[in-house]
Amino acid sequence: MEINGKTELYGVIGNPVKHSLSPVFQNVGFKSLGINAVYLPLEVSKERFEESVRGLLSLENLKGFNVTVPFKEGILKFGDLLSEDVKHIGSANTLKKTPEGRIEFYNTDWVGFLNALKELTDPAGKKVLVLGAGGTSRAVIYALKRVNAEVFLWNRTLSKAEKLAQSFGVKIIKNLNNIGVFEIIVNTTSVGLKEDDPPLFDYKKIQAHQVVYDVIYRQTPLVETALKKGAKAQNGLKMLLYQGVESFKIWTGKEPPIGTMWRALKRAFTENHARKS
Ligand SMILES: NC(=O)c1ccc[n+]([C@@H]2O[C@H](COP(=O)([O-])OP(=O)(O)OC[C@H]3O[C@@H](n4cnc5c(N)ncnc54)[C@H](OP(=O)(O)O)[C@@H]3O)[C@@H](O)[C@H]2O)c1
Repeated sequence: MEINGKTELYGVIGNPVKHSLSPVFQNVGFKSLGINAVYLPLEVSKERFEESVRGLLSLENLKGFNVTVPFKEGILKFGDLLSEDVKHIGSANTLKKTPEGRIEFYNTDWVGFLNALKELTDPAGKKVLVLGAGGTSRAVIYALKRVNAEVFLWNRTLSKAEKLAQSFGVKIIKNLNNIGVFEIIVNTTSVGLKEDDPPLFDYKKIQAHQVVYDVIYRQTPLVETALKKGAKAQNGLKMLLYQGVESFKIWTGKEPPIGTMWRALKRAFTENHARKS
């Protein structure tokens, strides 16, 4: 696709964001559908967040962007419309500028998570343990509650779990001694990002009948041990894909070429991983 005066600009704002794999598969999506658009990582400094967003929004060809850590909550003040999901979750990962210049916010993390989890199991009515009470946990719990899963929440800092449990009406687990009772375990903490992070519990206790989903993109010790124990388990790469797929639909109104986008993401992830190890 030739870049010209009509090329639309999309991207992801965050800090850090240079490592983001979203440009890889979003640009493949635009190209496959012949859409004259580019998607860039847009690193924004925390100190210059507001002026950066105002500047971006004033660009005529800027049509939308994804929002990642640490701006998912702070971005909301720029919105003319917040979707119901955004109001419930309290954060947005997708901004759309309409042709009339209206700024709309959506949260596609929860759909991304749900679609990824559904490839492993249907969570409806199941007992699910959610580890972590940060921003991602809110989207994950929201998704699970929508399908009437029975959600139990554990967090290192109990007060944060209590706050979240209250706003979503879920039960709290104070220790991880008895994880065998849960049909699904979801890790939303950042534990596992680094290979030598101490484990959240003894992962060898995972049983073959359980399903484990880790929102971290890399193959974490949690996922690896679960697979060794015969459980179904997956890292967060599919969640990344599916949240992006939903953003693509919101921006373009078109059905994205999911298979092509997934192959591009998987290839980039494997290459990145090979380079680091
Ligand atoms: N796959 C995807 O598409 C996707 C999308 C969004 C996010 N993510 C990933 O999700 C992860 C969490 O992001 P977030 O924005 O939710 O982060 P966050 O808001 O900062 O929350 C971090 C969570 O991790 C817990 N935690 C951190 N260190 C811990 C430790 N040593 N032991 C136990 N718990 C610990 C925190 O517990 P305390 O409350 O006790 O501090 C908190 O619950 C990141 O790795 C991010 O990359 C993936």
